[in-house]
Amino acid sequence: MDNKKVILITGGSSGIGLSIAEKLTGQNYKVISVSRNQEKIERAVKEKPQLKNKVDFIPGDVSSQESIGKLFSYIQNQYGVLHGLINSAGIISIGTLETLSPADWQMMLNVNLTGPFLMAKTMLPLLKKANGASVINISSIAGLRPGTSIGYSVSKAGLDMLTRFLVADLGPYNIRVNSINPGLVKTHLHFDNNIFTSREDYDKMIEGARVRHPLKRVGEPVDIANMVNFLISDEASWISGAIIPLAGGVTEENGFLPPKRM
Ligand SMILES: NC(=O)c1ccc[n+]([C@@H]2O[C@H](COP(=O)([O-])OP(=O)(O)OC[C@H]3O[C@@H](n4cnc5c(N)ncnc54)[C@H](OP(=O)(O)O)[C@@H]3O)[C@@H](O)[C@H]2O)c1
Repeated sequence: MDNKKVILITGGSSGIGLSIAEKLTGQNYKVISVSRNQEKIERAVKEKPQLKNKVDFIPGDVSSQESIGKLFSYIQNQYGVLHGLINSAGIISIGTLETLSPADWQMMLNVNLTGPFLMAKTMLPLLKKANGASVINISSIAGLRPGTSIGYSVSKAGLDMLTRFLVADLGPYNIRVNSINPGLVKTHLHFDNNIFTSREDYDKMIEGARVRHPLKRVGEPVDIANMVNFLISDEASWISGAIIPLAGGVTEENGFLPPKRM
């Protein structure tokens, strides 16, 4: 085995996670991705064929301790160490207190919040071995203010607190923990979770959001991947506990624009 740093990305088969995988393999990291559906892995390899033999696409579910245990054994046996854990796997169901089902609420908490907790807890022995590992949680600006889904916002607000908590727990092992909180990014998220079923409606929503952004564009997955690439590097070795809104000029001061037509 060569000396590449080993990075685990959850949800590396799509959207932001896939872009992070592309960025990091290009920077000479060894990337492992965990996700559930084989079809999405095939879609990823079709979108980015250069990643086919560069990323270990491992099937697994971040909300299942059994699944994470198997993943731990795989990484332990293949690489024996983990330099980075990027929790990007996430799901969304839109709804308010009155409209969101308890099942959808629970699913979002399981995947978006319990997943990163279980992942960090299980992978800790491998992260400790890196002597300088980095954990990055892909949260959302929806965790910083109420968004379009009560369950999603609560899960992401919880994830930010997990970040803040782990800073103190893992600092003594020289493990840094940070959160990136993206605004609206063009990925498969809204289609794969049935928020939109028609391309026309989705494009309308994106255009409505675009013009409300100070920078007049919504995010691309690579905007997030670029920040991950910095945060995971030695150049960020004194950054831990940062909660970083990454949203094209959408800030707390301007009330985290968009919606209007979302
Ligand atoms: N797109 C946005 O506007 C936006 C904005 C703010 C924050 N975010 C956050 O960014 C992260 C990535 O989202 P995205 O937009 O890139 O969405 P995406 O394109 O739908 O990708 C989500 C990824 O997560 C995986 N995943 C979902 N549930 C999983 C589970 N239980 N176990 C393992 N993998 C699972 C999916 O694969 P499988 O379904 O095959 O498992 C897929 O690879 C999410 O945490 C999301 O909340 C997105």
